Amino acid sequence: MPEAEPQDILTPLTEDAIFLTACVDPGGEAAVLDLLPDLAGLRRSVGFRYQEARLSSVVGIGAELWDRLFGAPRPAGLHPFRELRGPVHTAPATPGDLFFHLRAERLDMCFELAHLIVDRLHPGVRIVEEIHGFKSFDERDLLGFVDGTENPEGRAAEAAVVIGDEEPDFAGGSYLIVQKYLHDLAGWNVLTVEEQEAAFGRTKLDDVEFADEDKAPDAHLTLNVIEDEEGEQLQIMRFNMPFGRVGGNEFGTYYVAYAATPAVTEQMLDNMFLGKGEATHDRILDFSTATTGNLYFVPSADFLDDPPGPEAPAPAEPDVDDQPDPDDPPAAPEGSLGIGGIGAG
Ligand code: HEM
Repeated sequence: MPEAEPQDILTPLTEDAIFLTACVDPGGEAAVLDLLPDLAGLRRSVGFRYQEARLSSVVGIGAELWDRLFGAPRPAGLHPFRELRGPVHTAPATPGDLFFHLRAERLDMCFELAHLIVDRLHPGVRIVEEIHGFKSFDERDLLGFVDGTENPEGRAAEAAVVIGDEEPDFAGGSYLIVQKYLHDLAGWNVLTVEEQEAAFGRTKLDDVEFADEDKAPDAHLTLNVIEDEEGEQLQIMRFNMPFGRVGGNEFGTYYVAYAATPAVTEQMLDNMFLGKGEATHDRILDFSTATTGNLYFVPSADFLDDPPGPEAPAPAEPDVDDQPDPDDPPAAPEGSLGIGGIGAG
């Protein structure tokens, strides 16, 4: 089987991004199935006119919508985002069937593509959240720390996010977890720089990791550096971006993490919200409230080009007397859209 091409997940960091979350009402499925194979063309329509802007797009599909669009099989790790209620903080699960991660060096490119996408989705598809993210200074989040430094690079990045032999039906795909966080910046800025650095386990100005023995049990890095049984670090790829409105006292981080299995990101979330060892929770959560939470499957680009139709109902047992009439119109091809099942193509 030829290797399936992933979507533009491993795009280098950009200046701008738009994050669109949509809910698909019953009856809206056809518009989605119609759009998926055209997404790459829409991206080219906008991106080709200013290639330096490196416009890219990724679409993710939630568990419930997956079942409505494609039926079985469902990617093994695809399930609704699991709400986490810790002793102090909660990671809520919120509505979201479809997610678009649009990135470019210019917001107008993301905006134009978002417009073309949304135009194609009416009716039956509601955009329930739209976030415009921006790059802040030297890749800092709004808490003032450089965010993204320890993302894997090169082949390690690909191995961390792209599904391979472990799910051959879905090779080239990935899992995406997103959360919208709002920061209590006034409270955070009461802390000294040393206290802020202890919350992360890294220095603020020059972005250097603390030695393990100097990291607090509830430091962000203590809880997010996790290993498998062989002692290999388990990695994900984060593309967080700041967003906000100064006049509305809104200072946020849009958390975006891709992984070849959602279990790795979920283990990190467990550590942050439910605690681990001496830590009841991640210290940065005292200043960062998760207000949304979603899990999506990100199919390969090949899957999007030629998605399978909805599961066809099982054919009725043929009646021996019911021979086809030569005057009948020819039978419809497999699937109500006339596209083959999941193994086809
Ligand atoms: C308010 C939300 C968040 C902010 C502002 C934030 C910020 C940061 C910063 C500044 C770093 C250090 C530099 C770096 O390597 O990127 C970091 C590291 C990291 N964060 Fe977060 N983070 C947030 C949420 C999360 C969540 C929800 C997860 C996982 C579910 C996570 C997983 C990680 C991982 C895996 C690392 C790298 C650890 C290492 O290998 O050193 N972060 N984060």
